[in-house]
Amino acid sequence: MSNNIKNNQLYIGGVSAQDLAKTYQTPLYVMDEDKIRSQCQLFPKYFKSQEIQTETIYASKAFLSLAMCQLIQSEGLSLDVVSGGELYTAFHAGFPMDKVYFHGNNKSIDELKLALTYQVGTIVIDHPDEVLTLIKLIPENQKVNVMLRINPGIEAHTHEYIQTTHNDSKFGISIYDDKTMLCIKEIQQSKSLVFKGFHSHIGSQIFEEQSFIEHAQTVLKYIHNVYEKTGIIVQEMNLGGGFGAHYTDEDKPFDLRSFLPELLKNIQQTSKNLKIKAPKVLIEPGRSIVAEAGYTLYTIGGTKKTTSGKQYVFVDGSMADHMRTALYQAKYDAVIANRMNEEATSTYTVAGKACESGDIIIKNIKLPNPNINDILVVKTTGAYHYSMSSNYNRLTRPAVVLVKNGQSKLIVQRETYQDLIRNDLKLEG
Ligand SMILES: Cc1ncc(COP(=O)(O)O)c(C=O)c1O
Repeated sequence: MSNNIKNNQLYIGGVSAQDLAKTYQTPLYVMDEDKIRSQCQLFPKYFKSQEIQTETIYASKAFLSLAMCQLIQSEGLSLDVVSGGELYTAFHAGFPMDKVYFHGNNKSIDELKLALTYQVGTIVIDHPDEVLTLIKLIPENQKVNVMLRINPGIEAHTHEYIQTTHNDSKFGISIYDDKTMLCIKEIQQSKSLVFKGFHSHIGSQIFEEQSFIEHAQTVLKYIHNVYEKTGIIVQEMNLGGGFGAHYTDEDKPFDLRSFLPELLKNIQQTSKNLKIKAPKVLIEPGRSIVAEAGYTLYTIGGTKKTTSGKQYVFVDGSMADHMRTALYQAKYDAVIANRMNEEATSTYTVAGKACESGDIIIKNIKLPNPNINDILVVKTTGAYHYSMSSNYNRLTRPAVVLVKNGQSKLIVQRETYQDLIRNDLKLEG
């Protein structure tokens, strides 16, 4: 971050954080457009091979808005959506529907109908019941590309709550369950479904390359097994997302530029060993595209030292805009934007303004002695922040601003108090 400091001030995308706070107020989400774009560009550049077809799908649950859809479209990535709301956003941004993958373990009838009306590219079926539901909804003469979410039982070393591939996970059906083979046959035999292949996802914020390699190898072995048992050739394998991001110096994300070609090489070799044609490989990164591009700006309202000596810094946001510390005990780094050259001398707990003891943004962080009205900037908040935000305590969601080359642009407006009561109805009389 050192090259982003001028006159003791933090600059993001060439714009002073203090100016951003003045112009748009705080709390404020700031996204660095160049960082998002360069992460997007990294995937098509390194996730490619002469022998294997590939596709990168942005997992929109990490951060989605109309502008973000436009940005992803302009970078040529596909889009993963998991709800009618994400789908609706993509449609209204003008995102090409044939490049949309619709996931979810309990898509509603209305959501499935919307996906069929929009003619989304692929629906990822989660379990056998959904096969039947979907077939009933598909109009005559319409064919729908589908993938089946399988559970390959790989345990990625990550936080318990975001591991998704236990055999008893709520997502997908296990490759160790005989009924899965029946489900594949049922999809294959349906006149309205076009079976493209398997989807699986082993977790998020993963730092071990080996987990992804084992994941791919396990799915390939299953593809081989399916062919042996049913004669069905599985053409595509979506390996999900999960690449780690840097939040604090404890995090050691691996270099995707060397890993992605390695992964493809391994898939090619494993396929060769299994005597199958390597399937098309798809990945679905979310966090690794947007996390490090995002910053949250807060204004410090005061500090407090408890009788035992614990020092608090109070900011004007809360767990409503920063959920991951309360939810996952996630760790973050922060700086005081207007005092960048000052030494961080004491350790503080950064607490929000919500009426909840668990409303902590950062547990222990060294900062220069904070003053009222200083601007605290929490780093790596581009993924799962705005998208996980809530109105707890009837707090309004912050605005989102995109910065690039010294310019800023509002892409999501700050919520107003009027927005908070928009859907409320008064009792009669
Ligand atoms: C099915 C699926 N794909 C992709 C992702 C994106 O993961 P990440 O943001 O860790 O890359 C997730 C996240 O939970 C997911 O559930």
